Amino acid sequence: MRKLMRVVSVATGIVAAAVVSISAPAMAAGGGGEIKQHEWTFDGPFGHFDKASLQRGFQVYREVCSSCHGIEFISFRNFADLGYSEAEIKAIAAEYEVTDGPNDEGEMFQRAAIPADRVPGPFPNENAARAANGGAYPVDLSLIVKARPDGANYVYSLLTSYAEAPSHMNVPDGMYYNKAYSGNLIAMPQPLYGDDITLANGGDTSPEALAADVVSFLAWASEPEMETRKRTGIAVMLFLFVMCFVSYGSMRYIWADVKKSKA
Ligand code: HEC
Repeated sequence: MRKLMRVVSVATGIVAAAVVSISAPAMAAGGGGEIKQHEWTFDGPFGHFDKASLQRGFQVYREVCSSCHGIEFISFRNFADLGYSEAEIKAIAAEYEVTDGPNDEGEMFQRAAIPADRVPGPFPNENAARAANGGAYPVDLSLIVKARPDGANYVYSLLTSYAEAPSHMNVPDGMYYNKAYSGNLIAMPQPLYGDDITLANGGDTSPEALAADVVSFLAWASEPEMETRKRTGIAVMLFLFVMCFVSYGSMRYIWADVKKSKA
């Protein structure tokens, strides 16, 4: 019985350590800015995406962020994860134009997007993007949540930390004061003021709520397979836990005769 207790406590220890290592939030936040901590449904080993929030976030991305930022790693058909039907995805795709070709005459041409296309960005290349943004580059947002330490909290903070600059600070033209951005001066004007969007599926339109929705959407974009990964992790841990008992049992069974013959 003592041995069994030991096996159980070792197994519990292993599971606990694994759970902690999966759920531990990324330490350290983006160099120097003030980072707020928000509670996300996708945090922790049992984390999941809230589809309604992802849909609202996509709407915020589309109506606000997409005039400057692309999400080039996402294809329209990936939006099935957000809970859209095939017909809805076709309709969403058809609202965009993509460049295709060359055709038989060697010309590139524009056509309506289909679900297999990547979501087209606002600019044809980086130079065009910089030219339209006073020299600053609005990065592609499809991987931003993975690309920054504590990414979800960082982007959330960035969107909700525009403020009046302290009087001693000189804010050059085309720059904006932001408490979360390292150095506090960013070339992105405040994108969310709240109430400037009518959400298709209802919901809170305060700047904080819109920021949380768009960050959830961008977290999904950074790792669409997160839910599967976490579910697999849990299944593997359960399997290992059960196997602990099975191997302990079989060890007892195999050695039982040896012990008896010694006695
Ligand atoms: C008017 C254009 C514009 C809009 C609209 C806009 N951005 Fe930006 N964004 C920029 C520019 C320009 C930069 C680069 C800033 C810099 O380099 O100082 C940037 C930078 C960023 C960064 C990167 C910060 C970093 O750590 O490098 C994030 C994240 C971001 N934007 C998110 C968003 C989100 C989310 C939205 C929509 C809610 C949005 N932006 C809307 C222009 C825009």
